[in-house]
Amino acid sequence: TKIRKYVTPLAVPSVMPPAHRGEGGLARYLIGVRQFRQQILPSNLPQTTVWGYGDVSKPRSFRTPSDTIEARVDRPVRVTWVNDLVDSYGDFRPHLLPVDPTLHWANPPGGDAGRDSRPTFTSTPGPYRGPVPLVTHLHGGHSHEESDGYPEAWYLPKARNIPAGYATVGTFYDEFGAEFEQRYGAAAWKPGTATFQYTNDQRASTLWYHDHTLGVTRVNVYAGLAGFYLLRGGKSDLPPGVLPGPAPQLGDKPGTRYYEIPVVVQDRSFNADGSLFYPASRAFADDAGPYIPEGPFPPIWNPEFFANTIMVNGNTWPELEVEPRRYRLRFLNGCNGRVLIMKVSANPTARPAQADLPIWQIGNDGGFLPKPAKLQQLLMGPAERADVILDFTGLREGTELYLINEGPDEPYNGTFNPSDPATTGQVMRFTVGRLTGKDRSTPPEDLDLPWIKPIGPADNTRQLSLDEELGHDQSIELMLGTVGADGHAMPMHWDHPITENPKLDATEIWELHNFSQDAHPIHLHLVQFEILGRGVDGKQPPEPGERGTKDTVIALPGEITRVKAKFDLAGQYVWHCHLLEHEDNEMMRPYRVG
Ligand code: C2O
Ligand code: CU
Repeated sequence: TKIRKYVTPLAVPSVMPPAHRGEGGLARYLIGVRQFRQQILPSNLPQTTVWGYGDVSKPRSFRTPSDTIEARVDRPVRVTWVNDLVDSYGDFRPHLLPVDPTLHWANPPGGDAGRDSRPTFTSTPGPYRGPVPLVTHLHGGHSHEESDGYPEAWYLPKARNIPAGYATVGTFYDEFGAEFEQRYGAAAWKPGTATFQYTNDQRASTLWYHDHTLGVTRVNVYAGLAGFYLLRGGKSDLPPGVLPGPAPQLGDKPGTRYYEIPVVVQDRSFNADGSLFYPASRAFADDAGPYIPEGPFPPIWNPEFFANTIMVNGNTWPELEVEPRRYRLRFLNGCNGRVLIMKVSANPTARPAQADLPIWQIGNDGGFLPKPAKLQQLLMGPAERADVILDFTGLREGTELYLINEGPDEPYNGTFNPSDPATTGQVMRFTVGRLTGKDRSTPPEDLDLPWIKPIGPADNTRQLSLDEELGHDQSIELMLGTVGADGHAMPMHWDHPITENPKLDATEIWELHNFSQDAHPIHLHLVQFEILGRGVDGKQPPEPGERGTKDTVIALPGEITRVKAKFDLAGQYVWHCHLLEHEDNEMMRPYRVG
């Protein structure tokens, strides 16, 4: 079926309502994960069954992308995250998508002894159909370890039919459960929930929350588990009125006009009945070679999956009617594995596309840039954010501009063919309408952005490797590791003892040596880092949109990417590739501060 483009208005995520506001401004939320149907495709096509987060007291608030959590700098937020993947009888719901039980993963049927393991099978098992483990991570958050959403801090829903012998929580709780209880009270650990507190002691920035369960992150996020978390206020933000606004607020009337909008771009494929398609066999990947799905190796995992439609804020190819004025768009590349290279062009299909409207980037992962960057194109790896201003001022009513994508329909490595101009090469359309009021925001070229405190000199430098290996079973394994004295990569699995262990409050330089064929978006939890350089010698300066601080950096093949961060909270965290298929197959390592 042909999916018509630009027939659905861009959805603007609403604000997540707090359950209540407590002492000292502590905002408390009760947020569940549920399964529901959403009109993602145009209305002449069927609805899609998805997962999303929502306020548990408001069944209609569940959506993907989920409501935006609006937080203020230095004011803590406490969220009780509920795994509510149960049906109306109280039975668990199985996964919407194929779960590969032979990857190293959460593994509830393994019981307490076999949790978080790679089970060995003598013959190929089918996809796992049991209860779904979940745990939420605030991406970019300066979070304490027990609230970070560690991949082994997963938990099952509270359902009446969990089979005997299943583990209901991940191994993280063995080690840290007592600490959790002490901090937040025993009530925080009721079955099926976890309560995390976010301190918000960091710069105003565009963060996001998403699932992070060991070995199933790719399918949990693909099913819909992602939302924005916007941190505002304080000296690292601009005063109200300087930038285009308003953004959505609690209690807005329908039809409110927004000039600040969070925009998440994701690729998805659909079956004819409207359901999500995600490959259930590695044979799907044509570059996987002759493939016999037998034996003790992953039968379902694909090294990458590139879907064939573009979904923006939960609808395929939407349209935004804009006024001839400035808009602040907070972009998130929410794709599992796709690098986006976006331009605003009057012609949606010409390649190379002409940039007909500049993209003014003012912020990235960690907050505002040192100064606005006028870009012709915006390159974003998975999980990267770009706070941008598009200035439609003076454009004639009826003008149509397209947000197009020239990034590849395959792994990105710096040289590539652009995506299909008829499908994934298009993202959304802007149609200029009438001006309804004066635009009082500051033109981007005149903006004075807040000062950014530089990260001090480094105490230590580490050499780390990004690796792609053929496993013993001829399957690909993606790994992270260290670099040996002879300059060779020393790839390691998730289970290998910790090798990255910065001292508390140490400032370190991490040199990421990419020994693989492709680029990897590398993400460190806990910190916002400075990009020092990249290239064969690691000395080429970061792009204008990569200045300031970031939590995710694209590491190109054959290059050394150098980042510097201060590790200022003790605890156990992770660093990983944010290409979700890679993360789920061993391209993730624990690290420990202090
Ligand atoms: Cu956005 Cu460790 O993740
Ligand atoms: Cu990767």
